[in-house]
Amino acid sequence: MPKLVYILNGPNLNLLGKRQPHIYGSETLADVERDCAALAAELGVETRFLQSNTEGQIIDWIHQARDDGAGIVINPAAYTHTSVGILDALNAFDGPVIEVHISNVHKREGFRHHSYVSLRADGVIAGCGTEGYRLALRRIVTLAGSEA
Ligand code: DQA
Repeated sequence: MPKLVYILNGPNLNLLGKRQPHIYGSETLADVERDCAALAAELGVETRFLQSNTEGQIIDWIHQARDDGAGIVINPAAYTHTSVGILDALNAFDGPVIEVHISNVHKREGFRHHSYVSLRADGVIAGCGTEGYRLALRRIVTLAGSEA
């Protein structure tokens, strides 16, 4: 059975393509999902692509990944900078985790420079636009493969 990679998206990313396109670009989250699915097929894995504006829902999906996930790609969005709960959930997950930010958070406001999730992430991709998701997926497959 192909490995399953969770791709989790935090608050406001449902508005991708519509909100602040000068920062986040014009692609929608549906475009990102489609491109990730196409790459996943090439790489021989499956993806479960999810978005929520609610912290608890994201935590529940991370718990679910403990049962059937080979790895997690996560753009926690604003929760990156605030959520000990998401960090704790990721710490309870054994597989590889890659954190993605569409924008270069280090070029932005000071409060975006700290990430709770980075304390757990095996890698961080920031400022590569939506391509960052595909870079993260490739890396997860490398890491998940070496853990098999
Ligand atoms: C983001 C960066 C975060 O600081 C912000 O709150 C987001 C999106 C990014 O993808 O660049 O919502 O994670």
